[in-house]
Order: sequence, then structure tokens, then C-alpha cells
Amino acid sequence: MIKVDYSYAGEFISDAELEAIRPEVEAARDTLVKGTGEGNDFTGWVDLPEKYDRAEYARIKAAAEKIRSDSEVLLVIGIGGSYLGARAAIEALGGTFDRHVIFCGNNISAKYTQDVIDYIKGRDFSINVISKSGTTTEPAIAFRLFKKLLEDRYGAAEAAKRIYATTDKVRGALKTMADGSGYETFVVPDDVGGRYSVLTAVGLLPIAVAGVDIDALMAGAQAMRRECLEKEYMDNEALKYAALRNILHRKDKSVEILVNYEPCLHFVSEWWKQLYGESEGKDKKGIYPSSVDFTTDLHSLGQFVQDGSRIMFETVLNVVNNGTSIVVGSDEKNLDGLNYLAGKEMDFVNKAAMQGTIQAHTDGKTPNLKVDMDRLDAYNLGELFYMFEFACGVSGYVLGVNPFNQPGVEMYKRNMFKILGKPGY
Ligand code: PA5
Repeated sequence: MIKVDYSYAGEFISDAELEAIRPEVEAARDTLVKGTGEGNDFTGWVDLPEKYDRAEYARIKAAAEKIRSDSEVLLVIGIGGSYLGARAAIEALGGTFDRHVIFCGNNISAKYTQDVIDYIKGRDFSINVISKSGTTTEPAIAFRLFKKLLEDRYGAAEAAKRIYATTDKVRGALKTMADGSGYETFVVPDDVGGRYSVLTAVGLLPIAVAGVDIDALMAGAQAMRRECLEKEYMDNEALKYAALRNILHRKDKSVEILVNYEPCLHFVSEWWKQLYGESEGKDKKGIYPSSVDFTTDLHSLGQFVQDGSRIMFETVLNVVNNGTSIVVGSDEKNLDGLNYLAGKEMDFVNKAAMQGTIQAHTDGKTPNLKVDMDRLDAYNLGELFYMFEFACGVSGYVLGVNPFNQPGVEMYKRNMFKILGKPGY
């Protein structure tokens, strides 16, 4: 269960303001759901938890089983929307030190690539290359390199059986290559942009390979979709979240910091940053999405959040029951003075840190919203993914932008291609 709690932000947001913005938020929801707004050809993700290709879904599960049986490592090659959702789910649910799935092609670092090459030496591996366009520089470089390693290791015919391509249904360089070489292919639907694609094959294949229950993930997303579409404004977590952040934005809060107290949620924040950053940051508008991992970053960025420029608000992602029972021990000498915590669960201490920090930051005039996530499992994560996606579509329309394009990401590529001497630039 996901709940958006704004009780700590009471001094910054009144009920009257929430009511005042309601017509705008409800109109934005209608624009999104009826598909009448800008970017409406990229809203296929709204119905995705119900309307997905069942036959492909079965193939995803079968491929995941095969990969788990014949490979110690799956190299997942992709960047941006073809990368972050899978990594978010796997790190949140697959275990912090799970190395079954290794991500590459999300940078151009030779050092990182060399580390991956060293890691897979002597380990059986397969490749899932994910690229809607098939021409993105980072994954293309990585795929060229690791495909060669795979072919050198297993021979071309066996290598082809170990390569899974997730790409456009009919077009593009990767689709052509996959068809020519006989790779199994999965589809990035035409009407789903990269950053909204975690619940397609883009996310589901790597997530399933990591051993996460993708049925539960989809069930959570389905339940949240029904809530988003059917619930009244004040009981609708996505609409509330979209409303609250726009109210704060209109009070000159131009930065939103997503806060977690669980390191395994670091990449959920990275996924969220792409989702909101690419969806809203355009036409000289938008809330800049940032993130921190607490309590770690309380010892670095905490100073700024408490006491620096008052430009931000925080959204705290709180895992209510994290399923652990580690207890602080007692010590006869008590030199570290910790015996007052002896017998207390570590998570109790973590939650106390969270409560104290929310209070301190609120006192320091940084408004705090809280998103409660009942527990850290696939069902709840499916709910969370969908809630944030739906809220993002609504929030983008309230802001007055097209939440489904990303014109700004092309500029650096043009410069880079010119510097590299790419033909035509
Ligand atoms: O959200 C986006 O559109 C981008 O982040 C893309 O997902 C990213 O650039 C990768 O593109 P592609 O899947 O075409 O390789």
C-alpha cells in the first residue's frame, strides 16, 4: 500500500490551497487518461498493467528461466529509460549484493568496461541489449564489444542463443541486427517512452532474471492503476502528490529532493529523477528533481537542506515495515555510550532518525512530504512505480508542458558527434 502523507507540511500547504488547485489537477488527469493532450501518442503506459501482450510476457518468463539456468551473469546493456527501471527494481528487491545482473552500456567509461570484462572472465554469461532506437552511442559501443566476447567464448551460433534484444517492434538498427542474427527479441511498445517503460520487457526481463516476482510487480501496478483512475481527489495518492508538489513549486520551491533511508532504494531515486527531470524540465519550466540517501547524506548534504538557500522541498520515501529484526547489542564497558539503545531494533533507530530529520528540516523551512510504502516487496514496488508515473503525467500537464517528449537531450549528442567526426555532423 502506498500513502502520500502531507501532515508534516501543514504550515506550508493549507487545505484551501489543495482545494483551489483541484480543478487543474482533475483536468490534467482527464487530459492524460482521455489522451487529449500534447504527447498523447506516448501514453500507452497508462493502460499497460492491464493491456500487455500476454504471449510476450510468457516468453519473458521462459527466457528468464533459461538465462538463470545457463548463465551466472546477465549483462544488461542500455541507458536512460532502457536501464534505470530494471536497476531500480533489482537493487530494491534483488538484494544489495546480488551480482547476477550486471549493467553496462550506461556510460562510456573504459575503466568500468574493463571491470566488467574482468568480472565475466570464467563466468557463463548472456546479454540483454535494450535500445528502442538501436543507435544510442553508449549501449551500441558496449554491445559491439560484449557481443564479440560472447562469440569468441561460445561461437557465433551459441552466442546468438545467448543474446536477447529488446527494441522497436519493426524498425531500427538493433531490430535489423537481431533479425539477421536470429536473436530472440522483445518489444518496446511504440506508445511507451523509455522513462515509462519499466513494466514492459525493458524492465521485466532483467527483473525476472534477478529472481523478482514480476507477477506481483504487475499486480501492484494494476491495483494502483485502478486507484489512480477511480479514486476521488483526496483519496487518490497520485493526484495528491501532483497537487502538493505544484503548490510548493508555486511558492518558489524549485527543487524536490527524494529522500530514502534504505540504500537499496538509491536507484529508485535515480529512476524517479529521470522520470520527472525529462518529463517536466523543458520550456524553461519544471521542478529540478534531486535525491539523497539518508542517514548517509545527513553527514554531507544535510547541512544545506537544513540551513542553505530555501529553494527545496523533500519527499521522504518511507518503508513502513522493512522486514528486518537486527537488534543493537549491549556492551559491558559502554565506551561508545550506546547502551541506551541496547535491545532496540536497528530499524527503530533508523525511523527515529527519520522523524527527527523531518522535524528539523521542517523547522528549517524545508517542507516535507512523505510517501509511505507498506513494505519492500514486488507488489508495493509495482504500486510505487505506477503511482509516480501517473502523478508525473498529471503534474506535467498542470505545469503546462508536454510530459512525454525530451527535445533537450539531443543537443550534447550533436556536439559530441561533431567532435568525434561522425559522418553528417
Ligand atoms: O527516456 C528516454 O527517452 C531516454 O532516456 C532513452 O531511454 C535513452 O536515451 C535510451 O534510448 P534508446 O532506448 O533508444 O537506446
